[in-house]
Amino acid sequence: MKLLIADGLSPDGQKILKEAGIDFDIQHYELDELIRVIPGYEGILVRSATNVPKEVIDAGKNLRLIARGGAGIDNIDHKYAKSLGIPVLNTPAANSHSVAELVLAHLFALARFIPQANITMREGKWEKKAYAKGIELAGKTLGIIGFGKIGQIVTRLAIGIGMQVKVYDVIEVKTDLNIRIVSLEELYQTSDFISLHVPKQPQPLIGEKELAMMKKGVYIINCARGNIVAEKALLAALNSGQVGGAGLDVYAEEPTTNFDLIRHPRVSCTPHTGASTIEAQDRVGVEIAEKIVTTLKG
Ligand SMILES: NC(=O)c1ccc[n+]([C@@H]2O[C@H](COP(=O)([O-])OP(=O)(O)OC[C@H]3O[C@@H](n4cnc5c(N)ncnc54)[C@H](O)[C@@H]3O)[C@@H](O)[C@H]2O)c1
Repeated sequence: MKLLIADGLSPDGQKILKEAGIDFDIQHYELDELIRVIPGYEGILVRSATNVPKEVIDAGKNLRLIARGGAGIDNIDHKYAKSLGIPVLNTPAANSHSVAELVLAHLFALARFIPQANITMREGKWEKKAYAKGIELAGKTLGIIGFGKIGQIVTRLAIGIGMQVKVYDVIEVKTDLNIRIVSLEELYQTSDFISLHVPKQPQPLIGEKELAMMKKGVYIINCARGNIVAEKALLAALNSGQVGGAGLDVYAEEPTTNFDLIRHPRVSCTPHTGASTIEAQDRVGVEIAEKIVTTLKG
């Protein structure tokens, strides 16, 4: 029984596999190589760096499972895998808190010009006046689109710092939290900050039309998936001042080459590290290893 660990696994996760007698290789392959080596494995574990498209699944004649350490499984052709009876495992909740905290980090960073202040101070400048018009988050309205695992944690954290939270979801929202459930239109028109927590969408949820409906100077946070906010429209709105700032962890293409966007002075950017904390990786590693053992040995 052999497993390919394509994008790494925490030491605790490796220990669980070893104790269960599951042999594994830790090696990242580009697509062509992956197609060549995959017949030698009964399982493949990926994070976000490796894609598992149909060609890999077809080549993996001995595959008994595909595992993703993390939440989203959009880098795996999971529908095709399931149609062949190959289970696709993931860890939907293990990194939610880490992502939610990064959202808060971007909120604070944008409200107080932290990215730009860092850059200019390192250049030897003391631009105290330029950064004197920061705003407090307390009392501001945060619009949350997608009230799932991450959206709910962001809501709790935001309430904790004194923000008012308005929520929109396509499904009925049931919660004891002190929030307002609103239409998308109301959320756009009344939020000072908008944070997106929906799955990958076939087309951008927020483009030129939606940005134009928002309050002037709105701040947009996207730590969900890159295609959810149209980058061209976002850049235009940053340039016009319609959007006051954007906190981005995910991009239409990764690694992104949209330097006009990420170098914009009103952008706080991270390279898709929402889930990348020591705690989340440990949790992900243990949880996915346990699921692999249960599936392969069960
Ligand atoms: N930045 C990162 O590293 C990172 C890490 C983990 C997850 N994510 C992403 O965060 C997002 C949210 O993850 P989650 O675990 O909270 O997901 P979840 O499935 O728990 O919640 C998603 C919510 O979005 C709602 N939704 C779906 N389509 C919608 C739409 N068009 N409008 C409004 N609501 C809609 C769903 O009903 C659901 O309540 C996903 O895109 C996920 O891939 C990013």
